[in-house]
Amino acid sequence: MMVQGVTAGILVVGIGGNNGVTLLAGQIANRDKLSWETGPGRVSANWFGCLTQIPPRGVHGGVGFQGRYEGLASADKAAIGGWDIRSTKLGQALYDCRVLEPDLVRQVREEMDGMDIMPGVWDPSFIGESQHETALNVVSGEDNSSTRCRLERIRRDIRMWKEKNNVDGHITVIWSASVERPSEAEYKSADELLEAIYDDSNTDDISPSVLYAAASALEGCSFVNGGSQNTLSAAMTSLFEQSYRQPDAPSTSALSKFAPYSSCPAYCLGTDFKAGQTKFKTAAVEYLRALGLSPRVIASSNHLGNNDMLNLTQKKTLDAKMRVKSDIFGPWQEDDLDHKVSVMYTPYIGDEKRDYVEYTSFGFLSSPHTMVTYTRCMDSILCVPLMVDAAIWCDYFVNHKVSPTDAARATAYLFKVPEGGAKGVDPGFFYQMKELDNVMQKASGKEDDVIAMGLSKGIISEEQANALRALSTM
Ligand SMILES: NC(=O)c1ccc[n+]([C@@H]2O[C@H](COP(=O)([O-])OP(=O)(O)OC[C@H]3O[C@@H](n4cnc5c(N)ncnc54)[C@H](O)[C@@H]3O)[C@@H](O)[C@H]2O)c1
Repeated sequence: MMVQGVTAGILVVGIGGNNGVTLLAGQIANRDKLSWETGPGRVSANWFGCLTQIPPRGVHGGVGFQGRYEGLASADKAAIGGWDIRSTKLGQALYDCRVLEPDLVRQVREEMDGMDIMPGVWDPSFIGESQHETALNVVSGEDNSSTRCRLERIRRDIRMWKEKNNVDGHITVIWSASVERPSEAEYKSADELLEAIYDDSNTDDISPSVLYAAASALEGCSFVNGGSQNTLSAAMTSLFEQSYRQPDAPSTSALSKFAPYSSCPAYCLGTDFKAGQTKFKTAAVEYLRALGLSPRVIASSNHLGNNDMLNLTQKKTLDAKMRVKSDIFGPWQEDDLDHKVSVMYTPYIGDEKRDYVEYTSFGFLSSPHTMVTYTRCMDSILCVPLMVDAAIWCDYFVNHKVSPTDAARATAYLFKVPEGGAKGVDPGFFYQMKELDNVMQKASGKEDDVIAMGLSKGIISEEQANALRALSTM
């Protein structure tokens, strides 16, 4: 999608999916200030849910960063595009997924039908069989003949898209494609990872998402893993580090085989968007812990009928999802907690996910305290704001030279399992918001955090700052 005065770029892997088309429709609606009919009345476009796009409200600043920090890009002006293995026109896909109101869909459908969908790099073994029949828009021939050719194809796509859309800001590639089964290929370093991709005879289990991520690094784009598969690793993180992608890499380095490559700063963030139930669950457990209660059983049930859930009806992909859904309270060390998650595919309810959670905790004298929560919302309405924020934060952080560790810690609130420099960070929502505030203050020079101040004045090192922050949360 081409917009005048483009600031940042968002490239979505899975642009034809529910998240992808909802994001596109949301941007057109905001750009054109559309309004539409709904059951309760007429509503108009806004960016609610996107912390980077809404103005602050509340006595103490509260949520909302737009206008608080100069240089935070407007999503209205971002260029959005992407890849999909399906050829369904994007307006049609928006209509089919039934996420947005028909009167809004009617107004954006034609423009969306005219948008390009880049063919996707795919490997059928990685996603559910339910997705195979519709995979009619895939990279084939010479470009699909090896992992090296697939990676080079993605790199070319990124470059061509950037030029066509006159993107002069930072580009973030977001994995919003179907959840993959875990990849079995493991590498100890960025060199090993690149050597394997470069080796045309390799038979390693390299997933499409790994190729999209590696291509993003080599093009100087950030990569965000919104799915639950194991795309990110220490080797991948170091590929994104600028110290690795030096312009003068020795000819013995695996990197030199991929020259020219970009040495621009770029981040690698993930894993799996923390959009709805998981985000609420952490807030609820935070509340129970704040009461001094001891959470014992969390039994949660998700009912969902969209295409993402259909893909998860196979064990190989469901396992990847369950790994990240169950592993969300780790750093709180609630060792006696029995946390059960069940997910059910219920086609009738489409994208409007229901989640039902019962929390049982021990109170005074081990008396039980039980509460139930019920949430109902379109899944993509919860998730798209995280895609917007992830890309706008990456753009801001690159422009303000924020370190990869700070970028990961600041954006930890977006993910179920924060990776890289945010590994093991406190899962609590309010703690994570504070981290974001600290990084923003430090990046913008408006810091009132004494640790950040010590760091920026060179009194303490980044390592010491991290140790002090960890100490202050103990
Ligand atoms: N919606 C949410 O609340 C939420 C929350 C957390 C994570 N996620 C994750 O976001 C992703 C997208 O969700 P969705 O509801 O839009 O799913 P979806 O099934 O509607 O869309 C996924 C799209 O990816 C495409 N695709 C699959 N493999 C591809 C490949 N190799 N290259 C290019 N395209 C490919 C599919 O054709 C499909 O159009 C999923 O991984 C999901 O688990 C969603």
